[in-house]
Amino acid sequence: MKIAVVGTGYVGLVTGTCFAETGNRVTCVDIDVNKIEKLKSGVITIYEPGLDVLFDRNIKEGRLLFTTNLAEGIKDAEVIFLALPTPPGEDGSADLKYILKVADDLGPLLADYAVIVDKSTVPVGTAEKVHARIAKNAKVEFDVVSNPEFLREGVAVEDFMKPDRVVIGTNSEKARKVMSKLYAPLVRQGNPVIFMDERSAEMTKYAANAFLATKITFMNEIANLCEKVGANVDDIRRGIGTDSRIGKRFLFAGIGYGGSCFPKDVQALHKTSEEYSYDFKILEAVMGVNENQKTKLLPKIKQYFNHDLSGKTIAVWGLAFKPYTDDIREAPALENIKELVAAGANVRAYDPEAMENVKRILGDQIIYTNSPYEALEGADALFIVTEWPEFRSPEFERISSLLKNKVIFDGRNVFELDQMRELGYTYYSIGRDV
Ligand code: UGA
Repeated sequence: MKIAVVGTGYVGLVTGTCFAETGNRVTCVDIDVNKIEKLKSGVITIYEPGLDVLFDRNIKEGRLLFTTNLAEGIKDAEVIFLALPTPPGEDGSADLKYILKVADDLGPLLADYAVIVDKSTVPVGTAEKVHARIAKNAKVEFDVVSNPEFLREGVAVEDFMKPDRVVIGTNSEKARKVMSKLYAPLVRQGNPVIFMDERSAEMTKYAANAFLATKITFMNEIANLCEKVGANVDDIRRGIGTDSRIGKRFLFAGIGYGGSCFPKDVQALHKTSEEYSYDFKILEAVMGVNENQKTKLLPKIKQYFNHDLSGKTIAVWGLAFKPYTDDIREAPALENIKELVAAGANVRAYDPEAMENVKRILGDQIIYTNSPYEALEGADALFIVTEWPEFRSPEFERISSLLKNKVIFDGRNVFELDQMRELGYTYYSIGRDV
């Protein structure tokens, strides 16, 4: 099939590349000339494990093309994906200006029937708005479909190529056939393509992210209580996760969820509920708890140093909001580091992928190091913020010899308590006994 993807951000590039991989001819469109030039010359503009191999192959085989020209990009396309940003506006609701602008531009350009697909996370009712804006200038028949994505950064290729499910919102039989054909190669194992109306599909995406954010937050609250009652949240996780009604995943307590999706989507769903005069109490609690959770370990760090961090050096391991990404949006690391620096501490940080992005925000307020061990040089304590696998089995002897105090503050429960006791560390983590 011939398809177009408008917007070459994270979702757009993954969508375009993966659909090229299943044999389609994909043209990706973006207004950013520099980005398109890079992509055209074979330089990938996002960090996503495994995507580069697919990207290179499909460019080489001529199935993945790039342009800044919308008319050229959508020419002959049966399906046109809109993968555009929906940043939160000042009031927390998703800002649709990019999507609606492209909808305006698309109308007069459509030469034949096409399915226009909302891939971005958009509030309920957006497909109708997009439809109305295209219809103003369109001379041909078209459908607007909602097809939310459930990709996780870091494992996006796997999530795309083997989705648990595909959700497609449309009442058009014609669009349904086109979308079924496009997704058929990805659901060969029998995972479902679930059809519903546009509004329900849009709502499904928010419900999924809000549910997962709530699940994590619930465990974070259990963890906070575990600390008070003297229980171990890891045992609770194993104890409840094996109940198939609860499930093992997304039960890991830590210093809060971050990223570009959960915080934004929970906020946007809350905003939607307000607009419809519905008091969505759980969401409000989730947002509040998560905000506090992010800096949960700071009071313990301060207390350890008798409330005087001036001149102390803290080694921070991990800056990205989670492993296998360079994304630092809403990353707990930023807030923690800012507070540490404000309290007079020096920070030496290491992250395998995210340091360049942090440099752009924090500049030379902190020291960036080339290895986790270099971060420990002259440090008074180690603070683990992101659970990169390389931190899981470190050389403890090296850590001990570099750290001034044998103390670790672990925001992601990377180490076992027994192990820490045996090694003689003072160890603070989340929801577990000290
Ligand atoms: C999330 C969803 O998982 C995807 O399905 C969705 O498509 C995506 O948002 C989106 O809307 O685009 P992502 O933000 O990439 O994906 O990352 P997750 O792996 O879901 O992690 C989100 C946050 O939750 C991270 O900060 C992570 O550290 C935290 N988390 C996750 C926990 O604190 N505990 C857990 O058990 C799991």
